[in-house]
Amino acid sequence: MKRDSFGSRLGILAAAAGSAIGLGNIWKFPFITGQNGGAAFILVYLFCIALIGLPVMVSEFVLGRKTQSNAAGAFKAIEPEKPWYLSGYIAIGTAFIILSYYAMIAGWIFSYLGRSITGELITIAPEQLGDYFGGVIGSNIEPMFCTFLVIAFTAFMVLSGVKDGIEKYSKILMPVLLVILVGLMIRSVTLDGASKGLEFLFKPDFSKLTTKGVLEALGHAFYSLSLGMGIILTYGSYINKKENILKLAFQVTIADTCIALMAGTVIFPAVFAYGLEPNAGPGLIFITLPAVFREMPFGAVFETLFFLLVGIAALTSTISLLEVVVAFVTEQFNLTRKKATLLLAVVIYLVSIPSVLSFGAWSGITMFGGKTFFDVFDYTASNILLPLGGLFVCIFVGWVWGTENAVKEITSNGLFAFKYKGLYDLIIKIVAPAAITVIFLNANGWLSKLVPEGQMGTVMFTGFGAIVFIGMIVLNRRNRMKKADF
Ligand code: PFF
Repeated sequence: MKRDSFGSRLGILAAAAGSAIGLGNIWKFPFITGQNGGAAFILVYLFCIALIGLPVMVSEFVLGRKTQSNAAGAFKAIEPEKPWYLSGYIAIGTAFIILSYYAMIAGWIFSYLGRSITGELITIAPEQLGDYFGGVIGSNIEPMFCTFLVIAFTAFMVLSGVKDGIEKYSKILMPVLLVILVGLMIRSVTLDGASKGLEFLFKPDFSKLTTKGVLEALGHAFYSLSLGMGIILTYGSYINKKENILKLAFQVTIADTCIALMAGTVIFPAVFAYGLEPNAGPGLIFITLPAVFREMPFGAVFETLFFLLVGIAALTSTISLLEVVVAFVTEQFNLTRKKATLLLAVVIYLVSIPSVLSFGAWSGITMFGGKTFFDVFDYTASNILLPLGGLFVCIFVGWVWGTENAVKEITSNGLFAFKYKGLYDLIIKIVAPAAITVIFLNANGWLSKLVPEGQMGTVMFTGFGAIVFIGMIVLNRRNRMKKADF
């Protein structure tokens, strides 16, 4: 069976940026920025994106393109003798689990979109918005129906294939997203009192930065760029050899980062202009923002546009999460795309139900020290599987396949220039694995057990410096020894 592929450069960019730009940018980035004090957190985030996110994205792209295979097949193609394909299974499993509850959250967005269109949301008094949100997500049937809609839409777009489905719809949805975002941004920054919000976003106050914030920035860089779960790898496998992967990864990273900053520029100036708190956490867009829209002239229109924006961003990401699993199942079990997509859509929907009910009928069912089904899925995927997936990609590309081979693929065998070979080598072999290990230890609460309270910052900073330094020496020696071999 001939493999599907993207049809145009713009299409690849729209699909990959569409995957990266999602709830992570418009929902999570603003709320974690709010919780971590604003601009200083953003600077650290930008640093993580440039230093670690971009090189890992390049590695995933080239691994996919080189092998022209799905997330598990790629590892097998390069190392057929050892069970490296298991790390592909981890990535695919992560995409599967995340999709099940990501679709639920996207479903909440569609509930809110419906309630904005009917004009109901705008009538809710600010002090009731918290209970209202709890009521919507706890109502069982409606969130179950909306999750179904999200999975059905996603399956519909994936069904027609890479070029005629994913690429086609991304090319329509992404420009719409951009237009709405720019419109909302103009509205927000021209409100009286918007400047305080802009200051919060862009004027760093490093005293507000904590070690927890730094680790959160690093973890979010992975989440936001869709790394560690085979998405970029799978999309890479649909790209031909004439594309400049480095340029592509750079553009996707820039687009993802700009959209996150633009989402912040929509949300914070408006929040400050109406005297609300920026640190509401996950409720920022469901509880704080509807209070903002209530006060704004033509608020109902902007509210509808906002939830449409988030809905579109979520859908272009759910497409990519589903595609990882569909690509694997079609190639592994020789199923047609249609059969695989429909089958997986049904299974993912069934798996999403316990998460949906965790906020309603099953909220009392808890395990592992008070975790609901949703908490268990989220914890397993975000804190365990996602970092492991990222770690394995780096180790595999850095040490098993080898950065020299990856560089050959990055340059398309010398067709394009690549000036940063040494830096790339250092990052993929040492810096990124070390950073991901720290995220992993921290996310599971092990880091605080290893490092005494109050000394986390110093220990991390020195530890990290030492790792980079030793890494540079080791890699330098290895390279010299290799040259001497010839
Ligand atoms: N990168 C997308 C987002 O930021 O929302 C999609 C995504 C990637 C979602 C990774 C979840 C995830 F763990």
